Amino acid sequence: MKEIFHSQLKKSRYVAVLTGAGVSAESNIPTFRGSGSNSLWKNHEVTQVACPQAWEKDPGLVWEFYNYRRKMMGDKKFNLAHKALADLEKKLQDQQKTFSLITQNIDDLHFDAGSKNVTRLHGSIWMVRCCKCGYVEKNREVPITNAFNQESSGEKNHYKVEDLPKCKQGCDGILRPNVVWFGESLSKSNINQAFLSAQNCDLFLVIGTSSLVQPASSLIQIAKSSGAKTAVINLEETVADHDADFVFHGKAGEILPELFSV
Ligand code: OAD
Repeated sequence: MKEIFHSQLKKSRYVAVLTGAGVSAESNIPTFRGSGSNSLWKNHEVTQVACPQAWEKDPGLVWEFYNYRRKMMGDKKFNLAHKALADLEKKLQDQQKTFSLITQNIDDLHFDAGSKNVTRLHGSIWMVRCCKCGYVEKNREVPITNAFNQESSGEKNHYKVEDLPKCKQGCDGILRPNVVWFGESLSKSNINQAFLSAQNCDLFLVIGTSSLVQPASSLIQIAKSSGAKTAVINLEETVADHDADFVFHGKAGEILPELFSV
């Protein structure tokens, strides 16, 4: 199987890749589903905190959650899976071939590893957006404001509007994480880019995602019906396996360097 994959990779002129939380699992960032996952924060389901309804009701609680996630992700380093993908991009570029990476991850570790042509379907935890004027900027501050400095005691903290981060463009609006929340639409240009990649590539790789969240999960079918060969790399069996010409089960950080060594 590996040898056939190698010859497929060698003859491909356009490789597109979809990644999910599993790619960052070996950097010690928990996934949402599957073994070792963590879908609870302070007894809240993540889906109940990362959503517009939670923001409407209690933006302080939502920022407390993201402050915790930024603190948790802030010292994490890219791993061998991220590195293998960045190296593959460079190699294909040197051969005048095309590579595009579509990620559902918000941790930016693909960029840290050196990947360039990346579409972040779900945004970035290191960007903030003003709710009033829409201005988007990078922000690596942890804590996000001094009010979020103290370690959470497990008790419910009550943050006031004054505690929340504010826009510095003059409008004084409240900043929110520039990520896509549950129930929100993805950016049109990002999703178009993802669909174009799936339609135009000749090899489509699905790595470290449970393939349960739309629209990312439909990309493998689009690639397949557009004539691409498809591969799934995951620790476990997933629903995408039956659309794959190649399936490799194991850790992405162990499998990818070998798969791409052609
Ligand atoms: P999931 O948590 O749903 O799936 C992670 C996948 O990674 C599982 O299928 C695991 O088997 C696999 N996995 C774990 N460790 C791995 C490793 N070392 N190597 C390879 N695979 C490994 O994460 P996503 O599919 O990314 O959305 O989830 C998609 C979206 O759902 C997320 O972006 C998030 C979430 O709810 C939003 O926040 C909007």
